[in-house]
Amino acid sequence: MKKLLSFALCTMLLFSLAACSGNQTATSGEGESSTPSSHVAETSSAPSEPPESAEETENSAETSEETVSETGGTLIAYFSWSGNTEAMANLIQQETGGDLFEITPATPYTDDYNELLDIAQQEQDENARPELAFQVENWDSYDTMFVGYPDWWSDAPMLVYTFLESYDWTGKTLIPFCTSGGSGFGRSLNNLEASASGASILNGLHVQGDDVENSAGEISDWISRLGLN
Ligand SMILES: Cc1cc2nc3c(=O)[nH]c(=O)nc-3n(C[C@H](O)[C@H](O)[C@H](O)COP(=O)(O)O)c2cc1C
Repeated sequence: MKKLLSFALCTMLLFSLAACSGNQTATSGEGESSTPSSHVAETSSAPSEPPESAEETENSAETSEETVSETGGTLIAYFSWSGNTEAMANLIQQETGGDLFEITPATPYTDDYNELLDIAQQEQDENARPELAFQVENWDSYDTMFVGYPDWWSDAPMLVYTFLESYDWTGKTLIPFCTSGGSGFGRSLNNLEASASGASILNGLHVQGDDVENSAGEISDWISRLGLN
């Protein structure tokens, strides 16, 4: 009877040991596959210290990114309603490696061409400053700004002046570019100076809207002549 009892106890002991070790494996296995990797990194890299919260970890990454801001960058800011100026901006980006920024109205323009003609005319008559949807982040990190737009009624769209007047241009280099049906920059070159006071304005380039796709060579030559570093 004693033998039977001790055999039964031994069997129970062995069984419960096996069950325990099985649970540990499943937990760590589960942990590896389902725990977010950040949590795994925290616990394994600093086992003796309390793990940082996820929020703290994110914030410290943001801070270190922010402190690494540099100067000397190139920005290619453009407004485009039907795509020609955007295509030109993309060619400039390929040539310079700069950052693209689309000047976007807070209230989108109509898709109707005839309606747009009237709206653009009215904005010009009122010397309007339509609101922008977005601002350039890290403005200070850019020294050279290409600014592009379509010719609207022989001037830049008023939105472009809102953009120019939103920033401090002191010490910046501004290089205008423009597409049109044939009029070129119109009055916009004179007006740019007033809205971007403090900027050094270099020679701009106008390309006819329907010639943009063949203008890569012209754009490359123009940028070489600008003598940017
Ligand atoms: C409201 C409006 C006004 C325009 N005014 C002129 C103009 O005065 N002279 C001109 O040559 N082209 C004019 N155009 C034609 C555009 O400048 C031309 O199509 C340009 O390439 C469009 O650029 P986007 O595709 O980037 O919007 C006008 C177009 C619009 C929509």
